[in-house]
Amino acid sequence: MAKLIISCIIVLFSSIFLLMELSSAASTYNVLSFGAKPNGQTDATQPFLKAWGAACSSVEPSTIYVPRGLYLLKSATFRGPCKNRITVRIDGTLVAPLDYWEIGNSGYWLLFIKVNGISVIGGNLDAEGAAFWDCRKSGKNCPVGARSITFNWANDVEISGLLSINSQVTHLVINSCNNVMVRNVKIIAPDQSPNTDGIHVQSSTGVTITGCRIKTGDDCISIGPGTRNLWMEKILCGPGHGISIGSLGRNYEEDGVQNVTLAYSIFTGSDNGLRIKSWARPSTGFVTNINYRNIVMKYVDNPIIIDQNYCPNNQGCPGQTSGVKISQVTYKNIQGTSTTQVAMKFDCSPSNPCKGIQIQDIKLTHMNKKAKSFCNNVQGTEKGVILPDSCL
Ligand SMILES: *[C@@H]1O[C@H](CO)[C@@H](O)[C@H](O)[C@H]1NC(C)=O
Repeated sequence: MAKLIISCIIVLFSSIFLLMELSSAASTYNVLSFGAKPNGQTDATQPFLKAWGAACSSVEPSTIYVPRGLYLLKSATFRGPCKNRITVRIDGTLVAPLDYWEIGNSGYWLLFIKVNGISVIGGNLDAEGAAFWDCRKSGKNCPVGARSITFNWANDVEISGLLSINSQVTHLVINSCNNVMVRNVKIIAPDQSPNTDGIHVQSSTGVTITGCRIKTGDDCISIGPGTRNLWMEKILCGPGHGISIGSLGRNYEEDGVQNVTLAYSIFTGSDNGLRIKSWARPSTGFVTNINYRNIVMKYVDNPIIIDQNYCPNNQGCPGQTSGVKISQVTYKNIQGTSTTQVAMKFDCSPSNPCKGIQIQDIKLTHMNKKAKSFCNNVQGTEKGVILPDSCL
């Protein structure tokens, strides 16, 4: 009997807790109730920041809701730590001011900082970058440029269904984060727009990027020092400069890049495909355990390239060699067309030759002709059919 009563009490209490959970899940902060106007004209920065403040101090998980419409936003910092998880659900479009100085000086347009447990679902971001690119091309005095959306020191992050167009500089930055999922994100900027990288990952562990379409003027994805356990799959890249590890070794003291996988991806008309790039300067940096597999190249200028002799304008590195140690890089089932004759290029450091490069089932042609490979200071092995002929 006593047992039965205890079970009943337990059931009763669990039901009460379940009800509390269900009702708390409803804490939603609609930006309209904080004064945002979805007309693309009225500055919505303060209403967004107020909605953030409310959500961030909520002890229950909360949602910030942005209904359909256009919202004019200046630079905004969404700062944590917050009391609980926050979901930002965006059905509308956020636009930056037409005057590029408004966001261009701070370096950031939307910045999430020190937030644990943040999801950004949906949303269109239009940074209106064209006038800023023109400024840079004309060589006038321009601001540094704003990244469209940045996560700094954030853990357990999800970014899903976002569309970012015409960023001033990089579209999406993941910096010093752990456990990040980037899913179904679309990025669009013109071919010739300067420094408009799609996604930049740096000093972060456990980032997954999947199902993303990136057409831009610089790297589709760029991978900086301190990146560990990065998983990328189902990426469509091009136009753009490819998926690049680097440039690394710009600084002497630099963290390495390790355990990076790229699978099931297609490059179309991009300048590079799979690129690893380091400055020709001394450095403590390294690149190890990199896996590329099941990749299609369509009219790519440099489908496979390691370039350790990067020294733009011959400044800051003449006569020096790269200290970045590259090892255990695997290329498996890479097929398609190269617009240049050298489809596979391993140009490694004379002082730190590349080690453990493995190629397997490579089939790259120079359009309809035979392609070539190029090797310098590289050690590795091959398996299966290798076209162009291996120089390892
Ligand atoms: C490598 O990264 C993947 C995620 O991309 C992770 O699942 C795996 O455990 C990592 N391996 C090591 C040895 O850390």
